Amino acid sequence: MKLGYKNCYRMVFAEADNLPALIIDKYGEILVIQCLSLGIDLRKKMICDCLIRLFNPKGIYERSDVSVRKKEGLQEIKQLLYGEVPDYCKINENGIDMLVDVKNGQKTGYFLDQKENRFAIRKYCKGEVLDCFCNSGGFSLNAATVADSVTACDISELALKNVRDNAALNGFKNITTLCGDVFQVLRDFKKRNVKFDTVILDPPAFCKTADEIRDAYRGYKDINLTAMKTVKSGGFLITCSCSHYMSSNMFEKMLMEASRESGRTVRSVEVKTQAPDHPALLCADETQYLKFYVLQII
Ligand SMILES: C[S@@+](CC[C@H](N)C(=O)[O-])C[C@H]1O[C@@H](n2cnc3c(N)ncnc32)[C@H](O)[C@@H]1O
Repeated sequence: MKLGYKNCYRMVFAEADNLPALIIDKYGEILVIQCLSLGIDLRKKMICDCLIRLFNPKGIYERSDVSVRKKEGLQEIKQLLYGEVPDYCKINENGIDMLVDVKNGQKTGYFLDQKENRFAIRKYCKGEVLDCFCNSGGFSLNAATVADSVTACDISELALKNVRDNAALNGFKNITTLCGDVFQVLRDFKKRNVKFDTVILDPPAFCKTADEIRDAYRGYKDINLTAMKTVKSGGFLITCSCSHYMSSNMFEKMLMEASRESGRTVRSVEVKTQAPDHPALLCADETQYLKFYVLQII
């Protein structure tokens, strides 16, 4: 709250808030918690009692449907813990209303870590925008405030339904959805010589363990290289990675290689990271995980 967040924010960010393995996100009057270790799981009732006493939420929902719990002998679970929780909670982010699918959306329902970055893209979006890996449309809706048209692409039909609902909620008529695998979608656009003024890449973490880094590096390079070729001259590629195994140095190296191979001149114009309610602990470098680069493609 000291950061100025009111309506929706990450209340507890695990070790960075001295509570390892505990995530608590606030979506309006609803709290969503994720318990990632046995120690936290055993204290769930106490944590809920504290939340009720301190914040008087309308409801608390648990989204502990994450495979990492198996390492602690725990099952994946999602359940109502307190009060009433609607299927969709309405939040307001950057002046835009969003419906958060707390029960079936990815992670705890919404990716709060890109809040400021979503607002920052507005200055780079005009004309035609392609938002790849759009999920429920956080970047798409911010782009739609300034762009002529936005194509929101995701592999999940549920995510795209949420984009359409969120667009309708805000009266945006310039967003169309495209269901597909971004790797293939970008290749198809390149083949047909379709270009955009701005392309956004916000993929899921391609590597969740150190062993996967080589394949992940190839994956990041593939989409970034193809996307660079899909941006009009003078336009922007906005590219992210949320995997901490893909370090900033490695991400920059990958972007340099992609820019060389694309045959385009690429300028880095803005570099950002995760939102301040996801603070990084300097002694736990995995808490500094989000890379967000705005590149101008000449
Ligand atoms: C990190 S989330 C994106 C968050 C989103 N940009 C936002 O602002 O809320 C990654 C998204 O990529 C989608 N996805 C994963 N693999 C994909 C693929 N190969 N092609 C298209 N979408 C994919 C997932 O369904 C998910 O919605």
